[in-house]
Amino acid sequence: MTLSRRRFLGRLAPAGLLPFLPGCDAQRDETRVSSALGAGDRPLVSPWPAAQPGNPFQHGVASGDPLWDRVILWTRVTLPDAAPAVVEVEWRVATDADLREVVSEGSALTDETRDYTLHVDVGELSGGTTYYYQFRALGLTSVRGRTKTLPDGSSERMRFGVVSCANYPAGFFNVYGLLAQADVDLILHLGDYLYEYENLRFGDGSAIGRLPEPPTELVSLEDYRRRHAQYKTDADLRELHRQHPFIAIWDDHEVANDSFQTGAQNHQAASEGDFETRKQGALRAYREWMPIRAAAPDAPIFRSFACGDLLDLVMLDTRHAGRDPQLDRCDTEGLADPRRQLLGAEQEDWFDERLTESQARGARWRLIGQQVMFAPLLRSASGCVQNPDGWDGYAASRARVLARLREREIDNVVLLTGDVHSAWAIDVAEDPFDPARYDPATGSGSALVEFVTPAVSSPAAGQSAPRIMDLHPHVKFTDQTRQGYLLLDVTRERVLGEWYFVPTVREQSAEVVFGAAFQTRAGEPHLVSVAAPSSGRASIPRPAS
Ligand SMILES: [Fe+2]
Repeated sequence: MTLSRRRFLGRLAPAGLLPFLPGCDAQRDETRVSSALGAGDRPLVSPWPAAQPGNPFQHGVASGDPLWDRVILWTRVTLPDAAPAVVEVEWRVATDADLREVVSEGSALTDETRDYTLHVDVGELSGGTTYYYQFRALGLTSVRGRTKTLPDGSSERMRFGVVSCANYPAGFFNVYGLLAQADVDLILHLGDYLYEYENLRFGDGSAIGRLPEPPTELVSLEDYRRRHAQYKTDADLRELHRQHPFIAIWDDHEVANDSFQTGAQNHQAASEGDFETRKQGALRAYREWMPIRAAAPDAPIFRSFACGDLLDLVMLDTRHAGRDPQLDRCDTEGLADPRRQLLGAEQEDWFDERLTESQARGARWRLIGQQVMFAPLLRSASGCVQNPDGWDGYAASRARVLARLREREIDNVVLLTGDVHSAWAIDVAEDPFDPARYDPATGSGSALVEFVTPAVSSPAAGQSAPRIMDLHPHVKFTDQTRQGYLLLDVTRERVLGEWYFVPTVREQSAEVVFGAAFQTRAGEPHLVSVAAPSSGRASIPRPAS
């Protein structure tokens, strides 16, 4: 017997089983209400009103993990006093910004077991299409959001906003506000979506009215939930989520500084307890509060996305899945250990399979979203690495990745990196310091390229850019002083990375300056400077709030 959806929810909810129903058959039945009709036959509905003051969706709306036929919609309900313990949330998806041409609708329940967050995996959508969505609960409606599915089949061009390292007390999220207005298909968030510190550990929010909540370092599940909630009160971040889908992956600060699989630099067991408990709480809060499909506790966060025949996007977890502990930067013997793992064996095999499949299916490009810098940097005369937290600290892992690319003749690979609070454009050669193996004038010897996005608001790295350029023939560009974002424009002919910087994060500002642009052409895995930024596309209507 088929239960009606509402009865089905009603039976499961009291047992706490049903705050989240991705792809649940019962939910899908209801989503077909309108989508079975042809576009011309579809009746216009009377739209829900715009968001009313005091509505329970105080943390905004968001979308993420788009596929060609589905996307995750996210929101969170803030309960008024005397509200029910289990809340029903209705949702609608439409093809027009006024939400009259509804193609899918339904409802789901949420409760305290998932901190009143909600993920809906809306299916039966069309590829490469902009949609608009809205939620309703407790008789009140949310703001209206906009999202977009990935392309299906032939695809000529995609644009991505690439960001990392948003530190609330260190500055305003001006970068997010700018990207909300930008012409992009989606936002790639490479991690450090939030920081676990108390105030003054890494930025002072007292002078700018951005003290972190809770005021202490995050340790418990409840701590991490409160910090996520605070971040989503930021107007620029809320607007960015409202305008574009995210594909996000965590870095270390979603748990604790310089995390590895079984610990972190910023975890002291004597005062903060068991690391695994802290990590599970932190990652659970992330899964609850981010618009990701991997909301279930055991779902791997590393995942891939096919974007028509143009590209495959592979998102790696270099932090929490299988990373060995960092070593001292001068532990040359340890650093050379061939058993060292950055991804872990399971993820490394999975990565290998994804790249091989991508090449076999004929996707033009393979974009790899990950956290820490991949390209080798200069070692000291005694063999010390500059940053043992990056792939330089896991040379055997990097060598395996490069060897597999070579052996399987996998081409057109572009790495997208965050974490280091600075912008870089780099040719990735196995030994860029050996003139016989890499020619900086022609790019000969480079196997792939790496684009590094600067911080949204974390303090900039502040190294000497001229000195870096002098010492590293494969580094084509770096900026060490400014916050900003990377805009990635992908066509069949080339991948173009453009850096944009903001003049300040200490006050709210919509100012932005173009920094630099570099591209790699298909079949030519090295970077060339481009004088002017790319031109945008025709604008797509935005929903009124
Ligand atoms: Fe960071």
